[in-house]
Amino acid sequence: MPNSAENATKSNVLHAVNGYQDVIDSKQILEKSGTDFTENKWAVANTIAKLHPKRLQLKVVEIIQDTPTTKTLRFESTSQSLPPFQAGQYINLFVNIKGVETARPYAISSAPQTRGHYDLTVKRVEPGYVTHYLLDDVKVGDTFTSTSPMGSFYYNPLFHGTDLVFLAGGSGIAPALSIIKDIAARDGDFKFHLVYASSYEDDVIFDDQIKELDERFDFLTVSKVISRPTENYKGLTGHLNAKFLTQLLGPMKDKMYYICGPTSFHNFCEDQLASLNVKSRRVRIECNGPPKNPENLQGWPAGLIATDEVTVTIKGKGSFKARVDEPLLNSMERNGYTTENACRSGECSLCRVKVTKGSVLNPPEAHLRETDERYGWTHSCVAFPVEDIEIIV
Ligand code: FES
Repeated sequence: MPNSAENATKSNVLHAVNGYQDVIDSKQILEKSGTDFTENKWAVANTIAKLHPKRLQLKVVEIIQDTPTTKTLRFESTSQSLPPFQAGQYINLFVNIKGVETARPYAISSAPQTRGHYDLTVKRVEPGYVTHYLLDDVKVGDTFTSTSPMGSFYYNPLFHGTDLVFLAGGSGIAPALSIIKDIAARDGDFKFHLVYASSYEDDVIFDDQIKELDERFDFLTVSKVISRPTENYKGLTGHLNAKFLTQLLGPMKDKMYYICGPTSFHNFCEDQLASLNVKSRRVRIECNGPPKNPENLQGWPAGLIATDEVTVTIKGKGSFKARVDEPLLNSMERNGYTTENACRSGECSLCRVKVTKGSVLNPPEAHLRETDERYGWTHSCVAFPVEDIEIIV
């Protein structure tokens, strides 16, 4: 039971929140008048459902070639207005590639204040599947279904403060651009340091836009870092190791850090920040898909090689052969089975399936609850079937 000192601290914290006392006052007035809005419950639920529908119908209205390997696809809604979103969030785009129904999440790179369209920025990755389709086959006028904006990777003014650092790698610049534009539209004494790492000079996405924002806004500092520069390149080069970050950012402790990029990039940056004693609660990470090379994960069975195949049985529905290094959700989709999904990175839990026979390898990215593990639930988007399994979908 909390003691009186704890209660006093909690009360102080609550009263420090802007508007808290106003809400309490309104609540007390409503309690006296006998209105608690329960009679409006369904109206509220319906309004929320209209503002954030489960599915959006989108049309490509423009395709912008950003770099030799990257395009931004601009989408407008073909039905209702686009839902509002928090800068940094993503939508899960459903695609049908030669009969295979699958989906991929993409961060929205346009600003939340831009209400008429969403921009999704797609960089070619190898070996690619959906990215190749979006870059090579999609044209203006094509239509898609997607989820509403989702995800918890966004600036939270209550907890994140105003001294912000974004470590972006490759296409991880997409949510950064949206957040920068969002902060430019807010009041506040912000500091925002964008550290943007790319392999090559011609890989730098939004180069002109970022330069223009950097010149226009005092709150923004941009450090563009190239890891494989050409001989005469004059800018910053190297990797974002602890020494490099300290030189760029100065005192590390009280800042809020956002990391977005390929898995190897965010793992590396996370380790560097930890080695500089940055508390994990000051670090937000946006994962980008399942881990690559799962055979290097802890727990991978000895003797199993990536190209081995196992049998996946979907109880009551059928079975198929799957490679052990392919996430279960991907192999299900290739064989005509699917389940709800959104983040495809182990976080949202929408793709949960129950493993009733055999076992899968769950990487650290799978944010499984204790009860999930106890009763055999797994997040199929990041689970690897390392032996014959039976699942319920
Ligand atoms: S789709 Fe989000 S956890 Fe799998």
